[in-house]
Amino acid sequence: MIEVRNVSRWIQNGARRVEILKGISLAIPAGQFIAIVGASGSGKSTLLGLLAGLDAPSAGEIWLDGVPIHNLAESGLARVRGRKIGFVFQSYQLIQTLTALENVLLPYELNVEGNGLERARRMLEEVGLRDRMDHYPVQLSGGEQQRVALARAFVVEPAIVMADEPTGNLDSVNGSLVLDLLLERNRKSGTTLVLVTHDSEIAGQADRKIVLKDGLVVEDTLPLATVAAGSSDRRVAERGEPEEENHG
Ligand SMILES: Nc1ncnc2c1ncn2[C@@H]1O[C@H](COP(=O)(O)OP(=O)(O)OP(=O)(O)O)[C@@H](O)[C@H]1O
Ligand SMILES: [Mg+2]
Repeated sequence: MIEVRNVSRWIQNGARRVEILKGISLAIPAGQFIAIVGASGSGKSTLLGLLAGLDAPSAGEIWLDGVPIHNLAESGLARVRGRKIGFVFQSYQLIQTLTALENVLLPYELNVEGNGLERARRMLEEVGLRDRMDHYPVQLSGGEQQRVALARAFVVEPAIVMADEPTGNLDSVNGSLVLDLLLERNRKSGTTLVLVTHDSEIAGQADRKIVLKDGLVVEDTLPLATVAAGSSDRRVAERGEPEEENHG
């Protein structure tokens, strides 16, 4: 469903080239739950941004359902991306001047024909915010804001949901709530889930774990289903602690 072919991303800084991703190839089949882990600065957010078509690679190709998204004009890219991919950020990224309901409605109105009001309401109910629909982001807790962001990501029924440390700013209770909603989407609706996380416990629940280091994939653990039976301790064995990180 998503094919990444020898993708690099660099920033030209005067005469100096800063290499962020150094030739990454991946195939992400539909319905898979993938955790992307790695030390701070290893290129996780950059890779996720490329997969979502939010950024373009410096070299290489990215194909989404047979459509090349690495060289689409921005308007074409927005059209492809808007219907197929829901994105969740660590810092929620809600529009402060819109209510919860209006935030959720926005991608629907931009990408889908017809009136999405009922659907947007249903999405907010599904994430437990029936009584918060008319609140502005500033009137919501962090956990509530992230659940609005989930409803916004889900409202167009995207085949793929990408989330960049979606629980990173939340306490463990709210983090679990958000993670459960993402996993439920993956399991019940078959939504592909690509999740960047620092949490080895969360990564341990994924079908597949991709470890980045200095802009390269250094480990890509195959889906559990394809691994021969008899290795029941595999999840634990694979759950190595990520490198120590400093978030200032
Ligand atoms: N626009 C930019 N200009 C220069 N360097 C950049 C730019 N964007 C990212 N980088 C660098 O690329 C590297 C990878 O950044 P990225 O945000 O992808 O890391 P990350 O793995 O998501 O880290 P974290 O876990 O801290 O979120 C970092 O060293 C970062 O400083
Ligand atoms: Mg990041």
